[in-house]
Parts: sequence; structure tokens; C-alpha cells
Amino acid sequence: MELIKTTAGGGYTSFASGLPDPQLFPVDTLRALTDEVLTRDGRAALQYGPAEGYLPLRDYVAGLLRERGFAGVTAEHVLITTGSQQALDLAARALLDPGDLVALETPSYLAAVQAFDSYEAAYAPVPMDSAGMCPQALSSARGAKLLYTLPNFQNPSGLTLAGERREKLAAWSASNGLALLEDDAYHDLRYDGEALPPVAALAPNPWAIYTGTFSKVVAPGVRVGYLCAQPEVVRRLGELKQITDLHTGSLTQRVVFEYCRAGHLEPGIARLRAAYRPRREAMLSALETHLGGIAEWTPPAGGMFVFVSLSEGLNASRLLQRSLERRVVFVPGESFYPGPKRPKNTLRLNFVSAGEEAIAAGIRVLGDVVREALA
Ligand SMILES: Cc1ncc(COP(=O)(O)O)c(C=O)c1O
Repeated sequence: MELIKTTAGGGYTSFASGLPDPQLFPVDTLRALTDEVLTRDGRAALQYGPAEGYLPLRDYVAGLLRERGFAGVTAEHVLITTGSQQALDLAARALLDPGDLVALETPSYLAAVQAFDSYEAAYAPVPMDSAGMCPQALSSARGAKLLYTLPNFQNPSGLTLAGERREKLAAWSASNGLALLEDDAYHDLRYDGEALPPVAALAPNPWAIYTGTFSKVVAPGVRVGYLCAQPEVVRRLGELKQITDLHTGSLTQRVVFEYCRAGHLEPGIARLRAAYRPRREAMLSALETHLGGIAEWTPPAGGMFVFVSLSEGLNASRLLQRSLERRVVFVPGESFYPGPKRPKNTLRLNFVSAGEEAIAAGIRVLGDVVREALA
């Protein structure tokens, strides 16, 4: 957010933001659907609604979740939230007492860690390799109350948890009585390969909470996300949600539902993939050209980010100062590590918000900055 403020005047190539490309927002479709909803159903759409969400949307999301592998899930397993960020916060608020240990991938999603921090959690960081969280390292997380994982195109690392590891994580958290919080914000932004089953669908765990969002596939400004859990858990989290914001906007929930019902979701996702895939290719090819041999990264199969490790001894925050002078912005990876051990030699690059030419030019600048620092 600070970087966004610094660069707000424009003239920067930004790999820093976590934002989708606004040029791809379905503005005209949402305008027409909003008109339709207000014309047909205006009074209800502007009235207070149930804390758990607009029933037709809960039903629709339950259908999406069944397709993802959650057999037998119905509307009563679904809570509509104000973005999936709220789902993460509600889960943390319900489950965490001060000092409770959260096992999580390192690095991890910053805003979730900030939510856990606000309930005074402690952390059991679990390392990752190119196949995601390492199950063999889970023994160091014994005593944890909650396992937080982002199995698809993780923010910030871009890594995807391998299929057999999903089974292990699901079995481990269920058999050790851990709550599981699975954040699948990027599920549909897959550019290669087939979807893998959610961890939460792989072993029965009464405390499994899976979160998703329409932010990345419709628009983040609608603030419509969801969580999936056992009905009793949904009921209790609904009570907490009521304390927070009573319910998610009645109008936006209806507009998102109409967007899905009218068949816009799938073609919209296809458009996003078609736009983002070549930008990922542009980023990977520019990285190879300008940072090949002096940095490491794992090509992401989807999502919005690639995470780069520089030689030990380089400090990405210092490089950022030089890079800012040349109007190129990224986020030093340090911010994404919970706890005291924060490697300084990593950085996160968003590959969806700049066009392909700007990506190539920006990574050339980054390559120069890194080479100069090495020299
Ligand atoms: C991994 C992850 N989870 C959750 C969110 C929250 O998104 P929203 O509240 O818009 O659904 C984001 C947003 O960038 C994210 O990257």
C-alpha cells in the first residue's frame, strides 16, 4: 500500500501491486446487470439481508465447490463474506487465542498474517520447495492449532502444492486435530495443467475452512468472497460476521449472482487467462534473459506472482531504492515472512498489471540493478 502511494503519480512500471488489471474488469456487463437487478428487484437489493448471504448466491457457490471436489456441499456449508479477506479474519477471530501457534508456509500471504497478528498468534513456519509446503517439515509445527495454506499459485511465491502433498497435509491436520484454513483466492487463474483437489476436500476435518473470492475473476471492488465449512461452523462464523458488518452488500451479491447465472463467469475466466498467460510468458522470458544465472525462481502455473531469490548477501530493499530511481517497482520478499527470520534477498513480481513490452523493459532495468549490486 505504501509503494502504491509512492508511485501513484504514474510513470512507473509496477511489479509491486497485488492488483488485477482494471482494463479487464467487465464494466459494461456489471453496469447492465446492476440496472437489471435494480429494475427487477430494487427494493430487496437495497435492503438489509441475511448474515450468511444471498441464498441463490450461496447455492451457486455450493455448486462451484462441488465441481472443485467438495462432494455433498450445499448452501448451508457456504458463508458469503466481504471479500475472502473477511473470511480469513473471521476464521482467525473464531479459532485463535493469544499465543496460539499457526503453522503456515514461509513466505505467506501478508494480509492473512496481519489478521493472525491481530489475534496475537505465534507462528510455526513450514518451509517450501518447488512443490509447495514440505510435509516432512510439519513435525516442527507440532502443537499448532491452525494450519494456514495457499495451495494454488501462492501469494507471494507463485508455488502450487503437489497432489500427493495435499493428501498428506489433509491427513496430518485432521489426525492431529488442527483446524485447516485453506485460501484458494487464485483457483481459476490457472494457465497450465489440470486443477488439483482442495486440501480441505481430501480428509474429513470438522474444523476445515476453505476460502475463495470473486475478486480475481469478476472484480475486487465488488467485495464478494466466500468460505466453505461445516454448517455449524458457518452458523457461528455468521454470528461473528454479523458483529463485523451485518452482511455483505445485498446489491453486489445479487449482481455477482446474476453475472454467474447469466453465464458470464466461464468466458470471463477464459478472457483473463488469455490475457495473463502471455504476460507470465513475457515475465519468465525476460527473467531468463536479464537475471538468468544470477537469480532463481520457480515458474508459476497460475496466479499473478513470481518470486525471485537473489544471491545471498544482496538486500532487495536496498535494490528497490535504486530501482525506484529508474521508475521500476517491486515488493521486497522480506515483508512476507512471519517471525524473526526474514531473508532479505527475495522479491515478489506481479506479472499481470503491466503489458508485455513494459514487463520486458522493466525486468531489463531490474537485471541492471542486480548486476550493478553484484559488481
Ligand atoms: C492469497 C490471497 N488471499 C486473499 C486475498 C483477499 O482478497 P479478497 O478479499 O479481495 O477476496 C488476496 C488478495 O489479494 C490474496 O492474495
